[in-house]
Amino acid sequence: MSTLAPLDETITLEQLDRDPYPIYRRLRTETPVLRVKSVGRTLLTKAEDTKYVKDTPEIFSSNDPNTPMKRAFQAHTLMRKDGEAHKRERMAMAPAFAPKVIMNDWMPRYQQIAEEYVARLPRGEVVDLFPALAGPYAARGLAVLLGLDGPDGATDDQMQYWSQALITGAGNFGWKEDIFAISDHANIEMNALMDLLQDRHRANPNNSALSVMLNADDPIETSQIYSNIKIAIGGGINEPRDALNTIIYGLLTNPDQLEEVKRNADWDKAFEEGVRWVAPIQASARLVLEDTEIRGYHIPKGDTVMTIQASACRDEDLYENGEDFIVYRDKNQHQAFGNGPHFCQGTHVARRAVGQVMLPLLFDRFPDMSIPDINDVIWRGFGFRGPVQIPVLLN
Ligand code: HEM
Repeated sequence: MSTLAPLDETITLEQLDRDPYPIYRRLRTETPVLRVKSVGRTLLTKAEDTKYVKDTPEIFSSNDPNTPMKRAFQAHTLMRKDGEAHKRERMAMAPAFAPKVIMNDWMPRYQQIAEEYVARLPRGEVVDLFPALAGPYAARGLAVLLGLDGPDGATDDQMQYWSQALITGAGNFGWKEDIFAISDHANIEMNALMDLLQDRHRANPNNSALSVMLNADDPIETSQIYSNIKIAIGGGINEPRDALNTIIYGLLTNPDQLEEVKRNADWDKAFEEGVRWVAPIQASARLVLEDTEIRGYHIPKGDTVMTIQASACRDEDLYENGEDFIVYRDKNQHQAFGNGPHFCQGTHVARRAVGQVMLPLLFDRFPDMSIPDINDVIWRGFGFRGPVQIPVLLN
């Protein structure tokens, strides 16, 4: 019988939050399957293993009851369901993400929002793009796509606050009541808004996620409609925000690449490289349903494995100089959007909103942008990662 994976008692959550990449590089070489005490999970850092786990939901379930997510969302969201139950709820939201709807409904709105928000930025000043642009842009676009906008709809601040409250609650592994109080409060506000907007969406059916779910021929339960709107709020703001900030950083710190990207209008390529280089969602959990093996190690039923897609995206088996931001790579088959049945539903929206709309507009408006001091750019995050502060001189 095979043995359990080695146990690490040295890696801390603080280290992973500050900069996990040197740790992942070491783990990929030395111990790609590792039980990490501080995380309480088995970390998988090789691309082959993270993909295998996500592509094999019969053994590795998304329904992990040991996480505080259900408590934070006050619901069992589609992200934590498997099989038919997952498919039914994912399909309910799918019309809002259809390619035609993205092109005809959402992109013109994203373009408008981007122009308005970029026009607000002062020229010649140093501005932290996290609160001044990336956060509000991601929030407004999502409010429109979900059907939470309009005169009585959500503000950018509310969207960002709710998103963070849900993430904070879902990460409350200490099960502290004062932290759940924050997500509980956000739930009350989100529920009230969706109650209020229901009539409008029923009277004027449209392609927003809330409307397509409410007006479906065979709708899913209202409680599930609400909870899946919440999963999109919790999972649809910080990723495009962090991706945008990461790509701006990558381009501004590699001026030769920036010039080439500008010359060829290769913003799509810059987007893919940015999310590969620093995956906005760095890690995902899966519950092990039956005794199994990975790389010869025994993975017992009931264990929780963490697929570290951040590490998979830099795996030496797939990438040369994976630690570097290199837009013009030969191939870039990254895992930043996940794999398998839970593959990110917002992929195409995010690609277009950031890669096709915001990046060309911003670099056109401020062609000589620069980062005055890269030490002022602060990166954080183990589960989600990106710059939490990115002061840029806008010229
Ligand atoms: C650069 C931007 C984004 C990245 C890198 C990203 C990444 C991911 C990843 C890795 C997952 C899978 C998690 C898992 O396997 O457990 C996921 C799921 C999901 N994402 Fe995204 N995401 C992004 C933007 C968005 C946006 C803008 C939306 C909404 C408009 C969105 C909605 C969702 C939803 C609903 C799921 C759950 C899908 C399911 O469980 O079936 N994402 N995302």
